Amino acid sequence: MVNLSKDIGVMVVGVGFVGGQAHSPSFKKIEGSNLIALCDMVEERVKPLAEKFDVKYYLDFDEGLEDPEVDAVVIAVPTPYHYDLAMKAIKKGKHVLVEMPVSPTVDKIEELKKAAEEAGITIMPNLNFRFAPVYVKLKEMIKEGRIGNPIAAHYREFLPAKDLAAQWPAGGWAWSIEKAGGYPDWTLSVWGIDLLRWVFESEYTDVAWMANYPKFEEFGGILGYNTKGIAKFENGIVTSFHFGASVNAAASETRFEVYGDNTNVIHAVGTNKIIVYGPDKEVEEIDVIAKGTRVWGHRHSDRHFIESLLKGETPSITLDDAIIAQKIADVITKDLK
Ligand SMILES: NC(=O)c1ccc[n+]([C@@H]2O[C@H](COP(=O)([O-])OP(=O)(O)OC[C@H]3O[C@@H](n4cnc5c(N)ncnc54)[C@H](O)[C@@H]3O)[C@@H](O)[C@H]2O)c1
Repeated sequence: MVNLSKDIGVMVVGVGFVGGQAHSPSFKKIEGSNLIALCDMVEERVKPLAEKFDVKYYLDFDEGLEDPEVDAVVIAVPTPYHYDLAMKAIKKGKHVLVEMPVSPTVDKIEELKKAAEEAGITIMPNLNFRFAPVYVKLKEMIKEGRIGNPIAAHYREFLPAKDLAAQWPAGGWAWSIEKAGGYPDWTLSVWGIDLLRWVFESEYTDVAWMANYPKFEEFGGILGYNTKGIAKFENGIVTSFHFGASVNAAASETRFEVYGDNTNVIHAVGTNKIIVYGPDKEVEEIDVIAKGTRVWGHRHSDRHFIESLLKGETPSITLDDAIIAQKIADVITKDLK
């Protein structure tokens, strides 16, 4: 068992897009976290980053797991490898923060849950939108009654097609339904699906999706997507979704609209603005200031993981939340598998 009376020794495995840009700088800064090592099989990627953060690096995860200074691992490798790495970490008594989706199939998440419970290990899925300052503020304002009770919502999340191609080029792991669990629309939907469940504090009762996948030869042959959903919650709220990656950067706005029973409406726009539409045509705009790894909630999510370990508490987000989000997302891919 690890000694939790000191700072938590952390190793980030997978220092690509999210591991390198979000988790590594975040765990370097968080109080109570001691970034011990980075691990990636690509030395040209991990070495300069390890030098920047003045930490060790490993090219082999098994070797990193043997490091006695490592109490917890942050798994930010591609989705198809999460399960194996998480299982190894659990067996070595290391706590785990695992990126979403946890695994391409829900049965593997159930296995991880059982193994972690039996070993007394904390495993938290990184549903970081719950910590994004703009969504924390949105939820707070809804709770304050600014729109009465929420009755309907629309959530749209756009990624420029060009950026999608840069992040996950055609032919890579993210485009294999078997390896990744679905196309990138499936992968990227889980945070938004979870976000609405968290904001509305209610469970999904019904969901349906329709999608198309335009091919963009100019961006290396990736498939963009327009993935539209409708869903209902136990408390009666009805919502629609549009996950899209078929527009340019200028049109690529993310917006979460919530409609209230007092006729007011509140929008979270991008990551830094809240707009409240009042009854007499008044419009109130509130800026939400967040920078760097805080913008999408990574810093606070990572901090919550560390604080939970230090306090010996179960994190507020568990594998059950990941399972629920993935089950709703799985309906997107049901006709593709
Ligand atoms: N929370 C978020 O905001 C967010 C954003 C993007 C991606 N993700 C998730 O993070 C995960 C990674 O996505 P990404 O876009 O950062 O991937 P990526 O391809 O940019 O980076 C993955 C890194 O893992 C390394 N790697 C692969 N297998 C390894 C192994 N066995 N041992 C050590 N290193 C290994 C690769 O060399 C690469 O550097 C995915 O599950 C994705 O869904 C989360």
